[in-house]
Amino acid sequence: MQNVRADDILKTMDNILIRRSFVNDIPSIEELYLRVAEIEGGLARTVPEITREHVEHFVSKSISDGIELVASSHSAGRIIGEVHCYRNGVATFAHVLGDLTIAVDPEYQGKGIGKLLFTELLNEVITKCPDILRIELIARESNERALRFYESLGFKREGRLEKRIRSVKGGFEDDIFMAWLRD
Ligand SMILES: CC(C)(COP(=O)(O)OP(=O)(O)OC[C@H]1O[C@@H](n2cnc3c(N)ncnc32)[C@H](O)[C@@H]1OP(=O)(O)O)[C@@H](O)C(=O)NCCC(=O)NCCS
Repeated sequence: MQNVRADDILKTMDNILIRRSFVNDIPSIEELYLRVAEIEGGLARTVPEITREHVEHFVSKSISDGIELVASSHSAGRIIGEVHCYRNGVATFAHVLGDLTIAVDPEYQGKGIGKLLFTELLNEVITKCPDILRIELIARESNERALRFYESLGFKREGRLEKRIRSVKGGFEDDIFMAWLRD
């Protein structure tokens, strides 16, 4: 594993490290997304759509023009959670981080890792990125636990994108557009 500089470590909890990501993490992040995508109803992409190219794209965008944090487990010897978001590259939207995605290994869900990752991400934005005024994400209507989770972190439901996403049960469902705004 990459030598991690103290500056890149944001938090340690038991044997879990929350740190900034590196390009070397790409294979491990890809494995994480493949495990998470196996359970339908969370991530929008299905397993065949989690390609190396897709992971390289969001990791490089997040490192160069956004934020990406990973939770790595010492005992598991791998990355068990990840969150990222980035600017869209258009100057008029330079105060906005979008395309936010968070994924926690199914084996480790419900243990506070998602909350830890997200809290550290917001902390980074609040304390180190004063030019960022807004963070956006989209979650499917049926992922009610995730929607409530984002609300508990200060995100507001801003709109409903009707029948935008294919539903696991067949047909389509609405996507919920959410945003966090700096006070
Ligand atoms: C959503 C997710 C990132 C939450 O991470 P986590 O580590 O499981 O969450 P935590 O243990 O920190 O719990 C924080 C909140 O997350 C929500 N949550 C927990 N497990 C969840 C699950 N399996 N699915 C959806 N939300 C979940 C709950 O609201 C929880 O609060 P609660 O304990 O008061 O109910 C994680 O469950 C996940 O990766 N799910 C699959 C992928 C996904 O849905 N990503 C979001 C797409 S918009």
